[in-house]
Amino acid sequence: MRFGVLTGGGDCPGLNAVIRAVVRKGIDVHGDEIVGFRDGWRGPLDGDHEPLTIESTRGILPRGGTILGTSRTNPFKREDGPQQIRETLAELGIDGLIAIGGEDTLGAANRLHAEHGLDVLGVPKTIDNDIGATDVTFGFDTALQVATEAIDRLHTTAESHHRVMVVEVMGRHAGWIALYSGIAGGGDVILIPEQPFDIEDVCRLIGRRHGRGRFFSIVVVAEGSMPKQGTMEIAGGETDEFGHMRLGGIGQRLEREIEQRTGFETRAVVLGHIQRGGTPTAYDRVLATRFGVAAIDAAHNGEWGMMPALRGTMIDLVPLANAVAELRTVSPEEFAFAEAFLG
Ligand code: F6P
Repeated sequence: MRFGVLTGGGDCPGLNAVIRAVVRKGIDVHGDEIVGFRDGWRGPLDGDHEPLTIESTRGILPRGGTILGTSRTNPFKREDGPQQIRETLAELGIDGLIAIGGEDTLGAANRLHAEHGLDVLGVPKTIDNDIGATDVTFGFDTALQVATEAIDRLHTTAESHHRVMVVEVMGRHAGWIALYSGIAGGGDVILIPEQPFDIEDVCRLIGRRHGRGRFFSIVVVAEGSMPKQGTMEIAGGETDEFGHMRLGGIGQRLEREIEQRTGFETRAVVLGHIQRGGTPTAYDRVLATRFGVAAIDAAHNGEWGMMPALRGTMIDLVPLANAVAELRTVSPEEFAFAEAFLG
């Protein structure tokens, strides 16, 4: 059989491991041909593709990013987008498409299958770890490791200078990176998008530490965190094809606000795309490989509209519709254990 594969949305460590697994199992075990589409949904929309072989995917397992390229192209923002994709697949004799992506790419995959009858299945990726129906997405563990190492480094300089260091990490709607790196790195304040913060509380926690003779603090803030309404002003930004605002900047706002309100010298660091780049951790390589193997097997069985998901320790197939119905955000119960370590 002949299957297509694409990577869409923000890149993340482990994408190449999925591609390699699809190619290896597809060609070696099932005797398939695999076609790679370039730059997310732009590939099948424009017919931009390349053959993927054992040789062309050799050595990519530890490489970050994606050899196929990616983009935030939304097929539903193109006139006749679904029809164009259908025609490309028919022209190339492709039996079905494996779309590796996050909420937007999988959302589009789900609609293409459910509303247009296209043979598409999804594979969940994102450093944000916010896809529903799977316990974990690959990419998260690597980003978490990068953020934790950064916090460790910032600790020593914060302590030496008796400063507050604000570390802005990624996390548009979900605070998993902030919560877990904050705990792993011994952060003193952790701010996540799920819980609007009160700047007074933030300053109170920092002040309490000073009162206890700890003259430095680490504030970990997810980029999507918002102050409670009316407590602090935040600037807006431009939006992408899926309507998401470009984030970033909350760290600097907090830097100014904390310094003004507490009088403690404060610095902000934005980790940004460093969290998305570089080689995947062993955990992410294995999870991505398991997802890739499950995806090509599912394609063979005609399990369109489905997605491999990690449930406990096992990989299950779940409907894409369930995965995109609701983001997997941090619940108050999941945040609660952190409270004992704040301030
Ligand atoms: O969705 C993953 C993510 O890394 C978000 O945390 C972040 O807001 C966004 O991608 C950044 O996207 P871009 O690379 O387009 O700036």
